Amino acid sequence: MNELKISHDTAMFEVPAVVDAKGKLTEPCIREAAGMMDRYGLVILTNLLSDEEADFGLELMRQTVNDPARHRSSFASETDNLYVRRDFCSLPSTPPVMRFAGTLTQRLEGILSEFCGRSRPLLEIATFTSYWGSSHQYIHRDPSGVISLFAAVEDVSDQQGGTVFVPGTHMYGGAANTHGGQAYELMELFRTKTNARIAIYNLKKLWRMRQDTPARLAPGEFLDRVFSVKWDQHQPNILRFALGKNSQFSLRDIGPVTLWKLYRRRKTLAALFRPVQVAPRKGTVILYRSDLLHAGPDNRSQHPRRFFGMSIARDIIEAKYWHDGYSPHPTLTAQPVSFGDLLDGPALTEPPQALAPPVSAVAR
Ligand SMILES: [Fe+2]
Repeated sequence: MNELKISHDTAMFEVPAVVDAKGKLTEPCIREAAGMMDRYGLVILTNLLSDEEADFGLELMRQTVNDPARHRSSFASETDNLYVRRDFCSLPSTPPVMRFAGTLTQRLEGILSEFCGRSRPLLEIATFTSYWGSSHQYIHRDPSGVISLFAAVEDVSDQQGGTVFVPGTHMYGGAANTHGGQAYELMELFRTKTNARIAIYNLKKLWRMRQDTPARLAPGEFLDRVFSVKWDQHQPNILRFALGKNSQFSLRDIGPVTLWKLYRRRKTLAALFRPVQVAPRKGTVILYRSDLLHAGPDNRSQHPRRFFGMSIARDIIEAKYWHDGYSPHPTLTAQPVSFGDLLDGPALTEPPQALAPPVSAVAR
């Protein structure tokens, strides 16, 4: 997305995963990764999963997405879900899913335990698929107090739309005092400026999609994405923008004072905030603090983009707040799982034949 000036160079946020004989990250690796989580709000761990493990995760996701009775996530861009531009759904707590989640958790224990106590709940396990024609999400924060993880179970290209992050915009004690006590105001200005560009980008793209393209709009889709009163936080919806109904980007955000500040602080904003888009290779795992500014870009290729995702709370969390941002599968709601349960539970084990495709993964 040219208008946004997004860097694709993520080298400074990457840590090559090094594991010990027990399959856990080594101490130096943990220290480096935890330091990045503190400094930037995210870390990209390359080669955390073997090819066999990633294949196992991909098969779980395929089986879930192909299940007509899958549990669709209640998600901030439900119009994209409705028109199959995205398919976000939660994974059931079957033994293969829990073994895969256990493998990730146990390997990452050294980092996760810096943030999450053993009793903290697993909020969701999900798959995030996006297809050609999806909207570019607005830059936003997820509900705070959560550590989230994306695992790439196959290579994700720039065009497929790996996640955009704005490093260093996470919130913590005293963060508001940085940048001369203006950190949060500057972050909001940056968010407003960027989201205005995203809205224009999405509108232009939708206009092009009216023509005969492989991502051609479905009947009613244009109106639903641009003029609908339906709740949706990530469409270029002019009506909800004008009515101030979109909490991510609305007319209320861009009064004359804000426009003046955007002009006056333009160089500061450009120097402070440098969004990066991750295009992870198969086996890479991204960890991030949920209140870090980020966005799921649109998929500009004909190849579906898939991520495996899970989130663990860092504190107690109100059920409503939890369900506003995360979509636990009914099996997880019925039988809650904690961080400690994942650490103590089964994992994928060597030899590789143990990683045969999870044939009965979604049997209920
Ligand atoms: Fe998000």
